[in-house]
Amino acid sequence: MTSASTTRTLEHVISSEQFDREILDDIFARADRLAGHRDTRLAGRIMATLFYEPSTRTRLSFESAMLRLGGSVMGTEAAREFSSVIKGETLEDTIRMVSSYADVIVLRHDQAGAAARAAAVASVPVVNAGDGPGEHPTQALLDLYTIRSERGTADGVHIAFCGDLRFGRTVHSLVQLLSLHPGVRMSFVAPEVVQVGADLLARMAAAGVVFQLTDRLDDVISSVDVVYQTRVQKERFTDLVDFEAARRAIRIDAEVMRALPPNAIVMHPLPRVDEIATEVDSDPRAAYFRQARNGVAVRMAVLDLLLG
Ligand code: NCD
Repeated sequence: MTSASTTRTLEHVISSEQFDREILDDIFARADRLAGHRDTRLAGRIMATLFYEPSTRTRLSFESAMLRLGGSVMGTEAAREFSSVIKGETLEDTIRMVSSYADVIVLRHDQAGAAARAAAVASVPVVNAGDGPGEHPTQALLDLYTIRSERGTADGVHIAFCGDLRFGRTVHSLVQLLSLHPGVRMSFVAPEVVQVGADLLARMAAAGVVFQLTDRLDDVISSVDVVYQTRVQKERFTDLVDFEAARRAIRIDAEVMRALPPNAIVMHPLPRVDEIATEVDSDPRAAYFRQARNGVAVRMAVLDLLLG
């Protein structure tokens, strides 16, 4: 059941928890229809991007998505330095104001829970574009869309989440979307200091997901369908000794690729530092640039759903 006439809708996009298979199918059908197209369905509508943390892909792909649908964009980058926050304004007050200037607010913030706080006071839809170590639900949507388009389905996939599973918000969001798919197997591959949190594991166990934890990619590489590598989130560490222990623990290079099955793919939300060697980029199984490209169509679908 996937058509623009669906009655299901979303008020805000805050957490992957909000989605079920029906809404996912609707979003992906819209993304399929909108990919590569331009129209004017959101003419006269305004999107504000409010970014308190750096971004390239997320902000620009949201802006591109809005422009391709005929809407307009305005925003503040580095909102922590270049907005009234510096004068001591609360997030809530900023959001109340921006609600009267824009029809949708795309917010990136350094604190988990910030998007939910914003949605509580906003009079227009709020989209969580990353809230600290919390979630990044639209990234998870484009990640899942990528798995479906690269492999046909996400049902039954064995995925290895690698790198920073503690602070990596894209992992937190994608794990929840994948748990809606039957037969999915998850391997969490990370050193102890950045292993995935107990709360998320408890939720996966309750959802009946089969998973394992390891600190060795060698244990799982020959049986995975998807490697989801992530950057160790240096900016979230209070102890740089922990950061040093975590960085470079799991690295994808040509040798790892030799052990990866021929029809498997390697994903990464980007930006990459050195956790995937550039020698991997020319391998057809390296899907991360195709993944980033999918961000525009999926964000067009999200904006169409929220504002259309
Ligand atoms: C990620 C993020 O900001 O959470 N990037 C993204 O949005 N594509 C991952 C990261 O910063 O490592």
